[in-house]
Amino acid sequence: MSGIKIAPSILASDFARLGEEVRAITEAGADYIHVDVMDGHFVPNITIGPDIVKAIKPYSDRIFDVHLMISPVDLYIEAFAKAGADIITFHPEAGPHPHRTVQAIRQAGCKAGLSLNPATPLETLWPLLGDIDLVLVMSVNPGFGGQSFIESQLARIETIRKRIDAEGVNVELEVDGGINFETAPRAIAAGATVLVAGTATFKGGPSAYAQNIAALRGA
Ligand code: DX5
Ligand code: ZN
Repeated sequence: MSGIKIAPSILASDFARLGEEVRAITEAGADYIHVDVMDGHFVPNITIGPDIVKAIKPYSDRIFDVHLMISPVDLYIEAFAKAGADIITFHPEAGPHPHRTVQAIRQAGCKAGLSLNPATPLETLWPLLGDIDLVLVMSVNPGFGGQSFIESQLARIETIRKRIDAEGVNVELEVDGGINFETAPRAIAAGATVLVAGTATFKGGPSAYAQNIAALRGA
């Protein structure tokens, strides 16, 4: 499956060597650099902010796929765009006006992604499908790496895939959480085009990265 993109989540990398990790995962074949931003309020964990994105940007020429798990969102769009984000994805529960947030992300020069938690109704997505560039289906509850894939999300990925194809919109379908060599082929079969993987890409250290990515891509 050559069209599948792999987006390693740097949440699973060695933060003490972050720049080198981003360079190593890029050389290993990553398509996107997936950056998980958490605020300790929208999700029960705190990770990194725009200054870190800016610091690691020179270490990779790949697409910076910034996943905001923060509330509010709009206040921080400009800062992440300036720091080097190419795609900015947010959760509709994080603010009262998701369509306004999509507009703000595009005005900042980035592609806009909408992320659906495992229990977010798909009705939240449909009115925005023609206005966004990416849908991010969470196959775990957001907040932590290393969780188990939630099976019920496969049927939702299939439903979204059908709708994207029926409407003929140019929208990537990305899946995030618990992606490994067993779940990756199932997510691809359901219609995903981008796989986020933290644990499965960074396991084994830099010498294993290329093999990890190739295995996920070929799944
Ligand atoms: C969870 C994050 C994911 C996470 C994926 O809130 O959005 O990107 O880091 O980690 P794994 O691949 O280990 O499930
Ligand atoms: Zn993520």
